[in-house]
Amino acid sequence: MAGAGYLDWNGSLEALGRAHDAGIFALVIGPKGTGKTTLVREFAASRGLPIESANFSLRTREGHLVGTKTLEGGSVAFTEGILVRSMRRGGVMYLDELNAAEADVLLRLDEALDDRRELVLKESAGETVAAADGWYAVATINPLSHAGTKELPPQLLSRFPARIRLEYPPAETEAEIVRRHAGAACGGADLEAGIRLADALRGAAAVEELAYAPSMRETIAYARLVGAGLAAREAATTVFGNVYAQWGEIEHKKVAGIITSMFGGQ
Ligand SMILES: Nc1ncnc2c1ncn2[C@@H]1O[C@H](COP(=O)(O)OP(=O)(O)O)[C@@H](O)[C@H]1O
Ligand SMILES: [Mg+2]
Repeated sequence: MAGAGYLDWNGSLEALGRAHDAGIFALVIGPKGTGKTTLVREFAASRGLPIESANFSLRTREGHLVGTKTLEGGSVAFTEGILVRSMRRGGVMYLDELNAAEADVLLRLDEALDDRRELVLKESAGETVAAADGWYAVATINPLSHAGTKELPPQLLSRFPARIRLEYPPAETEAEIVRRHAGAACGGADLEAGIRLADALRGAAAVEELAYAPSMRETIAYARLVGAGLAAREAATTVFGNVYAQWGEIEHKKVAGIITSMFGGQ
């Protein structure tokens, strides 16, 4: 989030800067809500680089990336897609959740990321687009356990030789990050308890005892609710507990029990 202040707790921002300066495309890998998007945006902002973002899903089409032919007053026009725009303009091309993209989309991308940094527009009379000097691509991917994610083809993976791994930060670091977003209104003990709960749930999800691991978005939301006056236990139930009902009553009750054991209550 702009303005909240990025905390480079594990040196990722620095690592991304070095990869950029060496002209080596970067891949940021980590579970949701560990700050991947924030890292890339912070990097572009800190260098004053323009950034184009493509957020990939199974529904992302080639046209979105490369461009589409449209009929305008009886003649065919070509509307440039995000990738072509970014290549011409230079700066950062941010490929978010790249491992959710379909194979045909990845194939076009692979062409642009080739050492020549060129893309032939079969959609526009075979015109060749060459990337501006310093054009830089960064992709993020979620670990394979995430719904809708696929393995990135090795060919494409090799286009991003600088790999930066993000994890959930240690508790004190997460508390510092959460305070930057939610302010100090959520007291130290309540904040600590919320992060301890998130950590316990992440641990259980990692060994597949639970279906879901809360992200930093959730710990920030918890702190905001407590800061707004909600009791810590209620905030924990709202943010961390109730979501597990999606995986059935057994899962929901299991987490409700954890919340009661940590926060006390009825
Ligand atoms: N190092 C950090 N410094 C400041 N805020 C962070 C940091 N890491 C994560 N956040 C915050 O945590 C939330 C989730 O981060 P986000 O970048 O959206 O994660 P991802 O892209 O990995 O899902 C955002 O509100 C973000 O601003
Ligand atoms: Mg993201």
